[in-house]
Amino acid sequence: MNAPLVQPLYDEVQHGTWSTLYCRQRENLEDKGARLYLDALDRMDSLTEATIPRVDAMSAELGRTTGWGLVIVPGLIPVDDFFSLLADRTFCTSTWVRRPDQLDYLEEPDMFHDTFGHVPPLLDPEFAQFMQRFGEIGVALKGNDEAVLALQRLYWFFVEFGFVQENGTPKAFGAGVMSSFGETNHAWDLRQDLVRFTLEGIMSTPFTTTEIQTTYFLIEDIPGVIREMNDWFAAL
Ligand SMILES: [Fe+2]
Repeated sequence: MNAPLVQPLYDEVQHGTWSTLYCRQRENLEDKGARLYLDALDRMDSLTEATIPRVDAMSAELGRTTGWGLVIVPGLIPVDDFFSLLADRTFCTSTWVRRPDQLDYLEEPDMFHDTFGHVPPLLDPEFAQFMQRFGEIGVALKGNDEAVLALQRLYWFFVEFGFVQENGTPKAFGAGVMSSFGETNHAWDLRQDLVRFTLEGIMSTPFTTTEIQTTYFLIEDIPGVIREMNDWFAAL
C-alpha cells in the first residue's frame, strides 16, 4: 500500500500567487457567484486569502460540518477511484500551485481549482448529499461505460460549470467557473443563454476539456437533481 501523500511547504512567491488568485477572484465573484458558494467560502477558517491552505485543516473543517474529508492525490485519478472516494464523502485535491505567470491558464487543475473551486460547496448539506450519492451510483455502475459517460457529463455541466438559480437570478456555481477569473467572466456574459436543467439534456450533451465552454446549464433545485439521478439509476 502506498504511503499517504504529504502536503509540501511553500515559499513566499507561491503564497503570494495564492493570495493574488484568491483576492482577485473573490472580488470578481461578489455579484456573479452563488451565495450558496460565497457564504460557505467566507465562513471557512481554513481556506482564506492569507496563505495556501493546509489540506488537513480544510478536511477537519469539512468533517465538522457535513462529514466530508479531503485526500491528496498526485493529479487526475481513474474514474472508478474518484467515484469510490465521493461515495465515502472524500474529495481529492492536488497540492501544487501554479506559477505567477500562469494566473489565467492551466492545462490541468492545480490546488486553487481543487480547493477554492470545489471545497466551499461541500459545506452545503444538499450539495454534499448530491456528491455522495453521485459517487455511490458511479461505484454501482462500474464497467457500464455508457452510464459512466452520462455521469461524467452531469459532473461536468453541474459540478464544474453549472449555474444555480437564486431568488430568480442565475448565479455561477461550478468549480471550473468559480476558480477561473476568465471563465467566470466568459460564463457571465453568456448567462442569458443558459440551458435549463434536465437530466436527459445534460447527459446527452458532449463536453470538451480543451476549449472554452459554450454551453452552461442552469440548475434550479439540487434535491431535484438527486431525485432525478436516483430515478435514472433505478431505471437502468
Ligand atoms: Fe474540478
